[in-house]
Amino acid sequence: MDKMEILIDEEKLQSRIKEIAREIKKDYQDEEVVFCSVLKGAVFFTVDLMKNYTGPCLLDCVRVSSYEGENSTGKITLKLPLKKENIEGKNIIIVEDIVDTGRTLKYLVEYLQEFNPKSVKTCALLDKKARRTVEFNADYVGFPIDDLFVIGYGLDYDEKYRNFPYVAYIKNN
Ligand code: IMP
Ligand code: MG
Repeated sequence: MDKMEILIDEEKLQSRIKEIAREIKKDYQDEEVVFCSVLKGAVFFTVDLMKNYTGPCLLDCVRVSSYEGENSTGKITLKLPLKKENIEGKNIIIVEDIVDTGRTLKYLVEYLQEFNPKSVKTCALLDKKARRTVEFNADYVGFPIDDLFVIGYGLDYDEKYRNFPYVAYIKNN
């Protein structure tokens, strides 16, 4: 088992997620939004965010991949595309687990524009600002974090540890 330490416990995660749900509701009021979850990492976050969201909303999913182990391959592959009829004319909020280099969300925002949404915003649970290689800022951010490799609450290391109810980081020594 890799050595790890808890970075954000379950209570902190859940209370911040409730706040984000309220922030989003304040912005959209009674307008419908589509939470577009970036599989697989954002699944846990999306579920808790939507459970706390009190406005009209729909769920959609997209799947991209760029990572192998701890390293981004740099190339983004679309593994599960979206359908135009689910996006056109709608307020989309892309829900992501973490912004790292910024490439995934930048790519997805551009990809979504092809389907003529009414609006597109992004919501990331974690933000590793120090690792950005492209200019990108998410509209809603749960927690800014240091440059650590994190796991749990949907985030994986080679597909492992997604099930932890907290966010932890892998210790190198
Ligand atoms: P970006 O395109 O470099 O911003 O990478 C975003 C994606 O990389 C996220 O959706 C995650 O799947 C993955 N990722 C980035 N940092 C971590 C990490 O610390 N742990 C697990 N996955 C990560
Ligand atoms: Mg991801």
